[in-house]
Amino acid sequence: MNPLVSTDDLVCRFTSRRSSFLALDHVSMTVEQGTSLGVVGESGAGKTTLIRCLLGLQQPTEGTVTFDGSDIGTMSAKQRRAMRRRVGMVFQNPVMALNPRMTVEESVAEPLRLHTKLRGVDLRRRVGTALESVGLAEAHRSRLPHQISGGQCQRVGIARALVTDPELVILDEPTSALDVSVQAQILNLLTDLKAEHDLTFVMVSHSIDVVRYLSDRVVVMLQGRVVEEGLAGEVLTEPRHEYTRNLVAASPTVESDSLRIALSSREEVVS
Ligand SMILES: Nc1ncnc2c1ncn2[C@@H]1O[C@H](COP(=O)(O)OP(=O)(O)OP(=O)(O)O)[C@@H](O)[C@H]1O
Ligand SMILES: [Mg+2]
Repeated sequence: MNPLVSTDDLVCRFTSRRSSFLALDHVSMTVEQGTSLGVVGESGAGKTTLIRCLLGLQQPTEGTVTFDGSDIGTMSAKQRRAMRRRVGMVFQNPVMALNPRMTVEESVAEPLRLHTKLRGVDLRRRVGTALESVGLAEAHRSRLPHQISGGQCQRVGIARALVTDPELVILDEPTSALDVSVQAQILNLLTDLKAEHDLTFVMVSHSIDVVRYLSDRVVVMLQGRVVEEGLAGEVLTEPRHEYTRNLVAASPTVESDSLRIALSSREEVVS
């Protein structure tokens, strides 16, 4: 066992002058290096707050986040920057996540300019490798986000997340804005990239099927608490908690059937 990221008794309370809201209520979880954790739960359960804490973007009220053995709460700004370089982030809405005025080339080059000394030809070459690894062609380099499809935008988002060679990739609803057939292509791409680069994933998703496909383990969240945790195959097949049973039952079967077919066909078309 080699935990890459973990939380211990994480509490996150949002307080305003008039009210106080407990978004995370003593959340403890561990993600082993090279594995994939799925985080499921209804809207408002605290999933995004949890991953913002993992990234150090949200300061918890209590508890700790440990990344590769170090408490991120006590890191210096320099150590935190070094940590952020080892973590990639893929967002839900691929079109909105990209700067509309930046070409594909510029978008993918940006994290390299920020975190590395690569410039000029070396930078261009590295961007080319990243684009190739997500199935985009040379011709896409000079396009703007509105000149490519939603699926292609998400490929750019994934290239941006992976271009700095992170170890941990955090994905917040990576396919929920996409059509089912495009979802399947992106999920297949993520599976391939994970194996190829020995990545660790933490993925938030509303879709039980997506989590079943991509995750080794799963945590089920309800109102800021983890109500159930375990192997994805077990938790999602034989849920112990009634809330998980309802989540699984509420997962749309028509969509899951088409997703399963699309995943098994492994289309190579880029859309
Ligand atoms: N900065 C904030 N200030 C106050 N309340 C917040 C803040 N961020 C989140 N919350 C509240 O915390 C709760 C959890 O939010 P969060 O975004 O983590 O949910 P989620 O599980 O990601 O939901 P969704 O599935 O809709 O994305 C929500 O009730 C939200 O309104
Ligand atoms: Mg969210």
